[in-house]
Amino acid sequence: MSLASVGTNCSASALPSDVLTTGIYGMKSRLRKAATPYIAVSFALFFFLAECLAQNVRAHDSVEGMRTFLAGMPKAELHLHLEGTLSAETIVEITNRNGIDYFTTAAEVEQSLADRPPGLMGFLEHHFKSQNVMQTRQDFYDATYNLIEKLHENNVIYADLFFDPQAHTSRGIPFDEMFKGIDDGRRDARAKFGVTVNLIMCINRERSVASAFEMLDQAHAVRDKIIGLGMDSGPEYGNPPVKFRDVYARAREEGYFLTGHHDVDVRDSVKHIWQSLDIIGMDRIDHGLNASDDPKLVAELARRGMCLTGSPVKRASDPEPQDIDRIRALDDAGVCVSLNSDDPAEFETGYLTNMLVLFQQASEYTKSDMTRLMFNAFDALWLLQDEKDEYVDVLKEYAVNNDIDWNEVTR
Ligand code: ADE
Ligand code: ZN
Repeated sequence: MSLASVGTNCSASALPSDVLTTGIYGMKSRLRKAATPYIAVSFALFFFLAECLAQNVRAHDSVEGMRTFLAGMPKAELHLHLEGTLSAETIVEITNRNGIDYFTTAAEVEQSLADRPPGLMGFLEHHFKSQNVMQTRQDFYDATYNLIEKLHENNVIYADLFFDPQAHTSRGIPFDEMFKGIDDGRRDARAKFGVTVNLIMCINRERSVASAFEMLDQAHAVRDKIIGLGMDSGPEYGNPPVKFRDVYARAREEGYFLTGHHDVDVRDSVKHIWQSLDIIGMDRIDHGLNASDDPKLVAELARRGMCLTGSPVKRASDPEPQDIDRIRALDDAGVCVSLNSDDPAEFETGYLTNMLVLFQQASEYTKSDMTRLMFNAFDALWLLQDEKDEYVDVLKEYAVNNDIDWNEVTR
C-alpha cells in the first residue's frame, strides 16, 4: 500500500456517517478519536517504508562496496588459456585478416558458444574451432597483447599463461613463429601495463607421448622463457597423468615446474589426482576439485600445502558459478585453493573481477574469505620466496587499507 492511498483513507468522507450529525466539540473529539488509528497506521507505515528504503540503500551500498573491493584487489591468475581468450570480435577479425572461410560474424561465434554440448568435450568442441583461426606470428602477438591489457584492467599483477603448442604445430604452424608472437606480445604488454606473465606449455593429453616429447624438443631453445609444463585438452578418461610419466620426468630434469588438468566430474578424477601427486610429482593441480570427494586426499593436499587452481566458471545457462560447495569444503579443510578464469572469452564469468563478483554473491563469502582465496594464488606462485613475499605484501597492504584483519585471511 502506498502512503498516498493511506492519506485518502484518512479523509472525512471515509469516517462513520454519524460523525457529521453531532455538535462541533463532540464532532472534533469524535473525529480525533476516529482518526487516531489512521494516523498511527500512517506513521507506522511511513517509518516502515523509510526503513525499507534505508535497508535497500545499505544493501546496494554493500553490493557496490564489495564489487569495488573485488575490482581493486591486486590479483594473480594461475589458470588461464591463451586459446580461450579470443573474443568473438577478435576471432572474426583474425579470420578475415587470414582470408579463411570460417566464422564470418561475431553472432556466428556466439551461436557456436551457445550451441556447445555441456561437459568438457562439449566445451572443447567450440574451443578447438576458435583457436584454429590463429595462424601467423601476428595473430599470437595480438592475442597475447590484448589479453594482458584485459588482465591489467582487472588489476591482475601476475599471471601464469597456458598455451597449447601441439594444437598449432599440428596445423602446420612452426613452433618458433607461434612462440615468438606470444613472447613478443608479453614483452611489449609488460612494458606498457607492468603485468608479469610467465608461460606454461601444455601437453594435449589426447595426443601421443611421442608428440609430447617432440614438443619438449621444439621448446629446448626457449627453455628459459617457459616456467612450467602443464597438460590439458581431453578426453581425460583414457588419457591419465601416468600416460605422460616419462615426459614429465624429462621436463622435471630440464627444470620445468609441473602441473596438469583434472577437470571436475570427469571419470576417475580422484584417481588421477593421486597419480599426479604420487607418481608424477606435480607442483600444482589444475582444477582438482573432486578431491573433496576423498577425505584422505583432502588431508594429504592440506598436509603437503598443495595448491589447486579452481575455476568456478559459469555458462549463460548456469544459475551461478559451478563448484562453489567443493571450493568451500576444500577451503574449510585448509586446502590451498585459488579462483581463476580459465577461458574468459568462452564462459559468462568472463575475466577475473567479474568471476570474483559472481562467486562472492553466490557463496556470500566475506571480504576476508575472498582475500584468502587470492592470497592462496600468490602463495602458489613458482617464484623465489622473497619475490613471492613482495606480491603478498601488495595484497596485504590492500587488505589492511580495507580494514581487513590479516589473521582472518591467513587463518
Ligand atoms: N583447454 C582449455 N580449457 C580447458 C579445460 N578447462 N580443461 C581441459 N582443457 C582445456
Ligand atoms: Zn583450463
